[in-house]
Amino acid sequence: MLDTRQRTPRFVHGLPAAAASARHDSRDELRRSLRATPPTIAPKFLYDTRGCALYEAIVELPEYYLPRVERSILDQHQKAMLQALPQGAELIDIGSGDGLKARRWLDAGIVRRYIGLDIAEDWLRDCLRRGQQRYPELQFDGVVTDLSWGLQVPLAREGDRPRIFWYPGSSIGNFEPAGAIALLRQIRQQMRPGDALVLGVDGPAEPARMVRAYDDAAGVTAAFDLNVLNVVNRALGADFDAAGFRHRAVFNRHASRIEMHLVAHQRQSVDLGQGAALSLQPGEFIVTEHSYKHTPQRAEQLLHEAGFDQVRRFGIDGEAYGVYLARIGHVRH
Ligand code: AVJ
Repeated sequence: MLDTRQRTPRFVHGLPAAAASARHDSRDELRRSLRATPPTIAPKFLYDTRGCALYEAIVELPEYYLPRVERSILDQHQKAMLQALPQGAELIDIGSGDGLKARRWLDAGIVRRYIGLDIAEDWLRDCLRRGQQRYPELQFDGVVTDLSWGLQVPLAREGDRPRIFWYPGSSIGNFEPAGAIALLRQIRQQMRPGDALVLGVDGPAEPARMVRAYDDAAGVTAAFDLNVLNVVNRALGADFDAAGFRHRAVFNRHASRIEMHLVAHQRQSVDLGQGAALSLQPGEFIVTEHSYKHTPQRAEQLLHEAGFDQVRRFGIDGEAYGVYLARIGHVRH
């Protein structure tokens, strides 16, 4: 019988007991990374309320090809993927954002419970509220968590359901390769035979095309990047002046990654709070994001190194982007 009672999304934090000290550590970590060479701001700081809104605009940009390519791959291969995915599953939406990308699996009827994981609490609350309204028969839960702490799903499986770990959008590319393997391994360790990981990974394209994708004509990505300075100002009580910087995207061929830089165009000294300071000469820059472009071969290698023994790639002609369906044949730790 259909249960029509309105459910209320459950909402938990990734590190309940240590949340406050984790926030504290993350400030120290940020101050340290800004005084490293080169000065660095981890990309997770891009996603405050304004950053999330700007990111939603980025995914609509003509130059930002990733979501379009990923969507085509999923549209083209959805049937084959559905045959390989478990039914009646719990969908773990890793970095859920607005949650819209997960809808294809909810609409396909294979999901009984949705669990969104995101660092941005407001975004996650909206996502769960809208999802619960649209799919009243499903259960919606959320975990506010920082993936750089590792993957935490502090919600037990209900009724022993299989799980689908859904990590689209090539956000895995923000991790250094060793960190990507560690995260994938952690996902794998939470999986059982019958579960699946569906992972989107961008690959290298023509450098000019990639650079345009991360430095669009309308300046949306530049605004997204520069906004991180306001986030840092609030977090540290720092006094960055965004007007002293310009956004730049470069393809680091050797490392096979796009790098976003904030380049100082004048000499400046920034107060980082707690007596710390950052001095920059014109032309010196802060790294705000690495977005690795893994070839299909490399992506499969990362998954194998993480312990997945069954990996299938789905792609389309002329694109290096891949959607990987990874499973395990038996439990290993
Ligand atoms: C959300 C990490 C997938 O690296 O392509 C978009 C973030 N940065 N434009 C990416 C981003 C600049 C995006 N990910």
